Parts: sequence; structure tokens; C-alpha cells
Amino acid sequence: MKLANSRTESFHGYFVTCFVSIVVVLIMFSYYFSSSLVSFSSSKFEFLSSSPSPVATSELQRTVQISDRQIQAVHLTASSSDGAITTVNRIRNSTTTVIKKLSTVVLRKKHDLIMIKHGLARARASIHKAASTRNISVISSIINNINDDDYVPNRAIYRNPGAFYQSYLEMERRFKVYVYREGELPITHYGPCKDIYTIEGRFISEMEHGAKRFRTSDPHRAHVYFLPFSVVWMVKYLYKPLTYDLTPLKQFVADYVRVVSTKYPFWNRTSGADHFMLACHDWGPHASKGNPLLYNTSIRVLCNANTSEGFNPQKDVSLPEIHLYGGNISPKLLSLPPSHPPRPYLAFFAGGLHGPIRPILFQHWKDREDDMIKVYEYLPKDLDYYSFMLKSKFCLCPSGYEVASPRIVEAIYAECVPVILSNHYVLPFSDVLRWEAFSIQVDVSEIPQLKEVLMAVTEEKYRILKENLRFVRRHFVLNQPAKRFDVFHMILHSIWLRRLNMREMDR
Ligand SMILES: *[C@@H]1O[C@H](CO)[C@@H](O)[C@H](O)[C@H]1NC(C)=O
Ligand SMILES: *[C@@H]1O[C@H](CO)[C@@H](O)[C@H](O)[C@H]1NC(C)=O
Ligand SMILES: *[C@@H]1O[C@H](CO)[C@@H](O)[C@H](O)[C@H]1NC(C)=O
Ligand SMILES: *[C@@H]1O[C@H](CO)[C@@H](O)[C@H](O)[C@H]1NC(C)=O
Ligand SMILES: *[C@@H]1O[C@H](CO)[C@@H](O)[C@H](O)[C@H]1NC(C)=O
Repeated sequence: MKLANSRTESFHGYFVTCFVSIVVVLIMFSYYFSSSLVSFSSSKFEFLSSSPSPVATSELQRTVQISDRQIQAVHLTASSSDGAITTVNRIRNSTTTVIKKLSTVVLRKKHDLIMIKHGLARARASIHKAASTRNISVISSIINNINDDDYVPNRAIYRNPGAFYQSYLEMERRFKVYVYREGELPITHYGPCKDIYTIEGRFISEMEHGAKRFRTSDPHRAHVYFLPFSVVWMVKYLYKPLTYDLTPLKQFVADYVRVVSTKYPFWNRTSGADHFMLACHDWGPHASKGNPLLYNTSIRVLCNANTSEGFNPQKDVSLPEIHLYGGNISPKLLSLPPSHPPRPYLAFFAGGLHGPIRPILFQHWKDREDDMIKVYEYLPKDLDYYSFMLKSKFCLCPSGYEVASPRIVEAIYAECVPVILSNHYVLPFSDVLRWEAFSIQVDVSEIPQLKEVLMAVTEEKYRILKENLRFVRRHFVLNQPAKRFDVFHMILHSIWLRRLNMREMDR
């Protein structure tokens, strides 16, 4: 069987499949539950343990009984030392009180951990069941359960619609995030809400002030822990322009992790595996190097999802880049004319000569007097960027300095089929969405033949791609406050999936 990742290397081969043994392990030592893997990329899920969800109560009772016995044992020891009875009684009394208090705390923590593990096991089991069902009426009943009037599901855009819907419902039912309170404004608890890195600030803000359903103020009840710093603000306040010295960013991140891992037990418990950070700035991955465990073990939610620069899709999350000029989406993209006006241009791009791919695009297509392919470095002043998108069938989305491009989301809004031109880029939400249903990927080596490649897309295929864009749009929309299935919830769902796939290792 395949392992999702090797984050818990030392525990490989130690699979606990039956809960009686888990209870013993739990009381004797630290304990460890093997977990099943949830993956939407394959039609069937892989399991490490056979039975994921037995009943919790009997196990809890057992824990309580054993702890009571321990308390009685202490009683007996205390009362056997005869003599000055009142003193002994006093000692016994205070010992008992202390032990009771201690055991209440210990029990409560263990109880919380057990509840979390059982909840996750149940979620995995129900997702697994939904994923493997081929029965349309069962899938429909899951979808109807979503209870969201304006939602018209379209199965083609999902790898496994049953699994996705079930997993989404489980997330709503259970998922709890703890946001660390440490750190001061503006670098923590706040982020940019305008311009190109918007998503960083909007996510932090939603997590801090909205998202009540997914927050917990009790860190013992959390599934994941959020490190709420903004790399964009680190660059603004800590970086010295033109030095290209990213040490201050790494230092900040290192300090933040040091503070929370010294003050709380949670980081050390999993070596950071159930902690996450989020950054849209190109330098997000560099900043995360400030702590080796954050880089290699934690969930990093990044726009710059470049697998050649350490992005690991098993544990990291690809974050869509959304450009909000002045904090808003262009009104032109907000609501499209229902009449489907003609799109005279085959393909459109306008943007700076950034990164490794655009020079190739410009070399072959820039400023060519081609009626169908419109590629500009600087868009002439009399032409409007979004109008161009709305008049083009395909929108070219080449990587710039970083792999992600805000054009992808803009193209989705404009119902202009995105043409992904990138290397080593993990597309956002690609563990649940079938990008091939609403975009085209063109290999960088095929840029010289771009026109032929796009001309070869049949009318019928184009019609389906475009129609699917309409369905996928809601997953990329930023709402304030967030709405079900929008981009905030999709990001959270990606984190939830990583947490489901994490192999438990707790003390
Ligand atoms: C033990 O403490 C409780 C409350 O603190 C008190 O009511 C009780 O009398 C004490 N018992 C003895 C034996 O000291
Ligand atoms: C599909 O599921 C429904 C509800 O559980 C059941 O009534 C029906 O017989 C199933 N159909 C098939 C083909 O298994
Ligand atoms: C976590 O581990 C670090 C490094 O070993 C240590 O300095 C820190 O005190 C630990 N934190 C807690 C809460 O024990
Ligand atoms: C991540 O782990 C690899 C392999 O153990 C190691 O070589 C690398 O230095 C680590 N990265 C960071 C940023 O610590
Ligand atoms: C992705 O990472 C590789 C390796 O560092 C780099 O060569 C490439 O330019 C990066 N891609 C982008 C678009 O930044």
C-alpha cells in the first residue's frame, strides 16, 4: 500500500487496527492512530487500517475506569501510613484533590484527542463510502444534503463529485481551526486586501473575524493550528528594498514558531504537521524556510506552488492568486452579459516580461499582426484589458516571476478558457477539480504552435469547456463574508483534506 507521505517515518509499520489495543497504548504511553488516506485523484481510496470508525463511548469509559483505579491506588498508599491520622487525612485529602484535578485535566485532553480522532475516522469512512459508490441516487442524496438553493452541481468539473460533496459536508460538520493569538499588528492577524496578493489578507481577515463555524478558542479541540502572519507585510515592514536579503523574513517566521512551540504543546506534538501558514507573496516559500519543520512538515498554503522549489502537493496547498484593484473585482467581470456576445479573438495575453516563460511567448507571438492571437507586453492605452478577455475564446496564462498568475481566475470570471502555460505548477484545488474540464494545458515547448493547438479544439469541446467555467466560477469567488463553496471554503477544504490524510502521532 502506498503511503501519502513520510512525515511520520519513525512510526511506519506500527499500525494499530483495533481499539482495545489503542486504549492500552493510550494509557501506557503516548499513542498513535493509523489513519486512512483520502485521495480524489484516484477513484478509490487507500486505507492503512481496516476499520476506521468504531464507537467512542466504550473506549472513553475504559479510560475513566482505569484512571479511577489509579486514584484509588493513591488513596490506599496514603491511608496505610498510620499514626497522626489527621495529618495523613489532610495529606490524603490534598493529594486526592490534586490528583483529581490533574486527572481531570489529563482526562479532558485525552477525551478531546479521542473525540478528534474518532471524528476524523468517521469523516474518512463516510467520504470513502461516498467515493466508492457508483449509485447515482446515493450521490444525488448527498448533493441534496447540501441544502444550498443557488447551487446547480455539475459533475464534470469534479474528480469524484460524491467524495467531494461528502468531504465538504464533513468539513462543515467537524473542522475546527485554532488561530494563535501571539504576534502584533500589522505583520500578524492582518494582511493585504487590495491588489495582487489580496487573497493573503482576505483569508487572514476571514479567519480572524468571520468563519465562526470553523474556529475554536480551545486549542485542545482543534484539528489544525493557523500561524496568522502575512509575508506581504513582512516584505513591506522588514525587508530592505533592493538588498534581496530575505533573512529578516525567515527570522520573523523562526521567532513566531519558537514562541508558539515553547508556549503551547501543540507544535511539538506533531512536529508542526497539523499547523499551517498561508502566503501569496512570491517569497512565501522562502520565508517558510525560517523553520525547517514548517518548510518540510507543516501545511504551507502558497500561491507560488512550484514543485521545483520544494512545494509538496501531498502536504502543501496551492492558493489561487486573485487580483483586486482597489479591493474589488472589475465590474466588467462581476456579471457577464447573458447573451454570449461573439468572441472574435482566438487568444489574448497582456503582461510584463517576467520569469522564464513569457520571453518565449513574446518571441513567437508579441505584436504580430495576427487577427486571432493578441499578445501584448503593454496594452495600448485605448484598449481595455477586461474587454479583451471578454472578446477572446482563450486567455493565455503564462507563469511570471512565480508559477501562479491572477489571469487564471480572471479568465474563469470572464468565461475565457484559461490556457495554462507553466512548468512545475500545481493548480489550485486540483485534488478535487478536473482542470481539464475547464482549461487547456499547453506545454511550453508547444508555444510556437500555439495557434494550431488552439485551432484544433473543436467547437463542441470549446462549448463544454466554456460552460464548465460557469460552474467552476463559484469556487474562485471571494465573498465578504465568505459563502459556502467559495474560494475561502475551497482553501479551507484543501487544508481539511491534508489534515484527513495526516497520519496521527500524538502524545
Ligand atoms: C477534605 O477537603 C474537603 C474540601 O476541601 C473538606 O470538606 C473535607 O472535610 C476534607 N476532608 C478531610 C478528611 O480533611
Ligand atoms: C441505489 O441506492 C438506492 C438508495 O439506497 C437504492 O434504493 C437502489 O436500489 C440503488 N440502486 C442500485 C442500482 O444499486
Ligand atoms: C518543544 O521543543 C522545543 C525544542 O525541543 C523546546 O525548546 C520547547 O520547550 C518545547 N515546547 C514545549 C511546550 O515543551
Ligand atoms: C527539508 O528536508 C530535507 C531533507 O531532509 C533537507 O535536506 C532540507 O534542508 C530541509 N529543508 C529545510 C528548509 O530545512
Ligand atoms: C520554479 O522553480 C524552478 C527551480 O527553482 C525555477 O527554475 C523556475 O523558474 C520556477 N518557476 C517560476 C515560474 O518561477
